[in-house]
Amino acid sequence: MNTILNNLREKLNNIFAKFDIDESVQISISKITDFDIQINNLVKYKNHKSIEEIKNHLLKELDKSEYFSSVEFSDKLFINLKFNLINLAKNIDNSKKDFAVNKREKLILDYGGPNIGKPLHVGHLRSLNIGRSLYNMNKFIGNEVKSDIHLGDWGMPIAQIITYIEKNNLDIQTLKVSDLESIYPLSSKEYLNDEKFQEKAKEINKKLNTDDDETISKWKIIKDVSLVEIKKNLSELGHSFDYWFGESDVNSLIPDMLENLIEEDKVEYDESALVSKENIEPKVLITKSDGSYLYITTDLATIIYREKHIPFDKIFYIVDSRQSLHFRQLFSSAKYFEFNNLNFEHVGFGTLNDENGNPFKTREGGTKPLIELFSETYKYIYKINQNLEDKTIKQLTNTVLTYSDLLTNRKTNYKFDLKKFTNISGKTGIYIQYAQVRAKNLFQIANNNNSLELSDEIGNIESELLSKIFLFGYYLERSIEMSEPHHLADYLYELSNLFNIFYEDEKILNIEDEKIKNSKLYITKLFLETCHNVMFCLGVEPVNEM
Ligand code: ARG
Repeated sequence: MNTILNNLREKLNNIFAKFDIDESVQISISKITDFDIQINNLVKYKNHKSIEEIKNHLLKELDKSEYFSSVEFSDKLFINLKFNLINLAKNIDNSKKDFAVNKREKLILDYGGPNIGKPLHVGHLRSLNIGRSLYNMNKFIGNEVKSDIHLGDWGMPIAQIITYIEKNNLDIQTLKVSDLESIYPLSSKEYLNDEKFQEKAKEINKKLNTDDDETISKWKIIKDVSLVEIKKNLSELGHSFDYWFGESDVNSLIPDMLENLIEEDKVEYDESALVSKENIEPKVLITKSDGSYLYITTDLATIIYREKHIPFDKIFYIVDSRQSLHFRQLFSSAKYFEFNNLNFEHVGFGTLNDENGNPFKTREGGTKPLIELFSETYKYIYKINQNLEDKTIKQLTNTVLTYSDLLTNRKTNYKFDLKKFTNISGKTGIYIQYAQVRAKNLFQIANNNNSLELSDEIGNIESELLSKIFLFGYYLERSIEMSEPHHLADYLYELSNLFNIFYEDEKILNIEDEKIKNSKLYITKLFLETCHNVMFCLGVEPVNEM
């Protein structure tokens, strides 16, 4: 489809240019039943002096295209186009080659971002899902993508944990992850309420930053214990990362960075805090008055670190929308400080709430570990499908946790409704898995080794399904351009829905006419491959049985 779209854009852009029309072709989905896509640019040129000539040029070009079987200009000058399905099927199978970018971009995706000492919690789900989806989509079109989890593994929270352990004479050598999980909230509470504790924690934080051996070795134990658990959870949830760098890796770059900024007169002291001299409101604080580092200090150093270790054209930060001020400040500071690479995007998202719309909590009132949501979903699916293999149920669990999340526009909040998200006839991950299992089974039983071919006569439902299949590139493009997986998630539902109608329309295996049967199997195959590619782009693994 990008082959189709790019081709179309290129040709029509040339015609616009010829008439001095400063437009790039805007393509959208046609709302008219008989047409597939629509071009809207011409609408505002209705009174152009050469409009008839422009129309003629466009028409001539479109008539030449083997990808379209009919072209129509509406009264308002919308251009409606209908796919030539037979020709498209000859040229396009929705595999990677149909979408490959001309120029590969180097992208870093910063997502996940768990903090050491705490379990992965429900708040991490959207970053993980959206991040993985952007990763896979970009990989699919041939970009060079690297994921970096950016661990919160340094600074005051760690110092607080160490303080707590020392104060209570706990044996750090036998520290278990469950101990850590109860220590974390207790230590941050004590830090807030107990001045002496606070003093001590600040002291330990300084020791961390001056590489004090004993403190570093304690930090290392805490990080190792915590990371084993985080990695185990991530793997259960089907996530992996290229880089496991964290705040601790960039910390040593900060003193030099600050020194340079002072030297270049980009920052100044304000009551011993370092403040950026950039002329914006609010002013950007770079270090606190006691000299300690802030979230932005580390994120600035991370940009420098990445420029050195992971060459990139652009960094995407997939982080909760509540941090949008932080990222605006980060990006504009990086620009003001004249760091080299200035292509950044904050991909923000809304909150995931429980089924009543309240923040997810454990029974004890803490933040809910993500793995608990996984287990609850697993149990729910298992209860309905006791005959399925454990592996399948795990895949379905992750499908539900991923698909329902990506289906929601990332900017909005949503409620996690297990009953709704597992409904086999609803707009759910279970529904899309079921459709592709049907297609897979059909193939297995047909056991057809002949080369499958599309027949010249295509029925209505076949046409509709094929049209949808060839729109994959349109939705892929949209999802990538706007960093919004929901366009593809939605598309996958519509695709699966049309396949189900096609499947139920006639028992394919009973069709006697080999040509028709083969044609239907051909469409099934195209559906299955497309469906699997979309699933890959969303980070959903197809199951083998249901
Ligand atoms: N650890 C951070 C948090 O818990 C998220 C990190 C996001 N990435 C970044 N480069 N700031 O809020």
